[in-house]
Amino acid sequence: MNALARSGDEGWSKDFVGTQIRLDRRDRMLLLWRGISATYGKRSAQFRRNAAAFAQKKHAGRLTPEQVADLARGQTKKVDRDNERRTTLAITDAIISGPPARISMQQRGAIFLAATLDMHADLRIVANIGARVDITSSYLARRFPDRSFVSVDLQPKLREHNAGLAQSPNWTFASGYALDLIERREIKPDAVFMTSTSVLFNSVELDEYISAMRAAGVRAIILNEPWWPAAAMPLPRLLLPEQIDPDDPVCAGQHGNFHHNYPAKLARAGYATRASTITAGNVAAGYTALQLVATAEI
Ligand SMILES: C[S@@+](CC[C@H](N)C(=O)[O-])C[C@H]1O[C@@H](n2cnc3c(N)ncnc32)[C@H](O)[C@@H]1O
Repeated sequence: MNALARSGDEGWSKDFVGTQIRLDRRDRMLLLWRGISATYGKRSAQFRRNAAAFAQKKHAGRLTPEQVADLARGQTKKVDRDNERRTTLAITDAIISGPPARISMQQRGAIFLAATLDMHADLRIVANIGARVDITSSYLARRFPDRSFVSVDLQPKLREHNAGLAQSPNWTFASGYALDLIERREIKPDAVFMTSTSVLFNSVELDEYISAMRAAGVRAIILNEPWWPAAAMPLPRLLLPEQIDPDDPVCAGQHGNFHHNYPAKLARAGYATRASTITAGNVAAGYTALQLVATAEI
């Protein structure tokens, strides 16, 4: 079967009916088990501390230049250490058409983004925000040689960090705080993709990102984000984004990630959610993937 046909995307209905959960019984059981051990197990105190730390900055707004510099330094060190391992995770056709159970979060994202690009020939410039070692753009730039891909992240050595991956003339790099780069029009994407990144943006910061994207002419936002069961008594609960207060994200998971009501936040800036699905992400590690695509309303 064609790799892209496995994206689970059967086309978008005109009227968005809400996030669909597509998890089989085995995944649901595994997720529940992982959720229980996260709530009651050895690392539960750490999980709660992470969530509490995230909760404190729910409304902090855009990062200050000092915070950006701090994060960039930390990220550079992290990627320097992790660079070689990440480079070996490169996406290929063979990996993508392999057994679905072995697909990583990034591979899932690449399939989803590719399916969206297949449907929208007008999306010519695609920015991957929070790209780090960008196996997705490396792969898709070769798959879509007539489109441009730009990897965006805080690390000043972004190009160097990606040097071990297959390069293409239609794949470029932009280092810096993406919100600044969009506002200053230093990047001008038609489509923005994020994987494991918008969950790091606080509520006010995400609103600023979405407004800036709309003002800069971004036509499609494609998300492939970790989505964890949220703490609830007696059992953790997999919330739908629509069940969350758009101004009060829920903090959950190993890192305390923000779980946002994306459809409502996007709608405020004039983006209509076209499809939103909770699908197997890395259930063995305790999380699903929220895959969402929204397009600008005319
Ligand atoms: C968890 S990593 C995900 C990397 C990559 N997308 C992947 O899936 O492998 C998040 C990336 O977003 C970047 N980032 C952007 N904005 C951020 C923010 N406000 N807080 C933390 N990290 C941020 C970091 O530099 C980091 O490389």
